[in-house]
Amino acid sequence: MTLIEQAAKRLEELRRAGAATADDAPAAEEATDNREGQQERLPTPEAAVRGLEARVPTPKVTPAHAPVVTTRPADAGLIRREPAPSGQTRRVEIDLESLKRRGFVTPDAPKSQIAEEFRVIKRPIIRNAHGPSGTRSAKGNLVMVTSALPREGKTFTAVNLAMSVAMEVNTTVLLVDGDVAHPDLPSLLGVPSAPGLLDVLTRDDIDIGDVLVRTNIDNLMVLPTGAQHRRATEVLASEQMTKVLRELASRYSDRIIIFDSPPLLATTEARVLASQMGQIVMVVAADSTRQQTVNLALSTIENCDMVMMMLNKASQTDVGAYYGYYAGDDAR
Ligand SMILES: Nc1ncnc2c1ncn2[C@@H]1O[C@H](COP(=O)(O)OP(=O)(O)OP(=O)(O)O)[C@@H](O)[C@H]1O
Ligand SMILES: [Mg+2]
Repeated sequence: MTLIEQAAKRLEELRRAGAATADDAPAAEEATDNREGQQERLPTPEAAVRGLEARVPTPKVTPAHAPVVTTRPADAGLIRREPAPSGQTRRVEIDLESLKRRGFVTPDAPKSQIAEEFRVIKRPIIRNAHGPSGTRSAKGNLVMVTSALPREGKTFTAVNLAMSVAMEVNTTVLLVDGDVAHPDLPSLLGVPSAPGLLDVLTRDDIDIGDVLVRTNIDNLMVLPTGAQHRRATEVLASEQMTKVLRELASRYSDRIIIFDSPPLLATTEARVLASQMGQIVMVVAADSTRQQTVNLALSTIENCDMVMMMLNKASQTDVGAYYGYYAGDDAR
């Protein structure tokens, strides 16, 4: 299939899913992916789609600390139909010094400004997931981090949120790489990209316990995307995915499960995932994403009644460069 045919196919998918159309030129104009410092303007939805199709997948890098298989038993707290073939859970050493240098929250810097900001952001999320039964929502522990457009800071937010929640006493976090077409966690955290979620959903011989990755942060585990699958959208929308999410949410309700996700206006996967989530953190790049674009993205997730808007990359605010606030009636 040529690139143009692929773009036409993607456009058709987006139209069917109710996304940007030719009438939405302002939103599409903003679909500028600054990856690798390129400032490519994409004036039409068609061009935006072509740009997105052309995005180079994150290369699998060999982490500074190669994944180590330990002799620890497979995670006893997650879905298991039968013992993992190897009986072992993979483990990676996240390079915390490198993350800290790049401005991320790390457990050994609990008083940094970024840590303080995420402390504020995580509170309502934890309350909605684990609060007293009156305030707790069903599947409230499934938290998706998304945005309208690419490069607004979803992965930055998802990782920081996961780090921050993992620093809580008695709270464990599962960080899921839900950006199946363009996983960011392998290069950032040094986790392998496969096997992972897509393998669990497409293979009978693999289950969640086989693909979880432990980390050097005791309360933090990672679920990679898994091997690339050409029908990833359908797989994420499958009954099997609903089953896996339902089990994650209910049987392991003591865990906060954070999904790093694709942008809502660029892929159908994000909307499929959103429909299954208890809470959504909508990252908005300050001073660059138009309100009309944000509104369009919000309209695609209106079925989720807990949406937290988070302004990212703000240059100057009263509360610092980064803050969160609740939108809608569900603020508690
Ligand atoms: N608040 C912030 N402070 C400093 N750097 C940030 C901030 N937010 C994002 N960044 C940086 O901006 C870049 C893009 O962020 P990120 O990768 O999180 O975006 P994304 O929305 O996940 O992108 P994609 O759509 O490609 O997955 C990264 O280099 C990230 O480290
Ligand atoms: Mg990302």
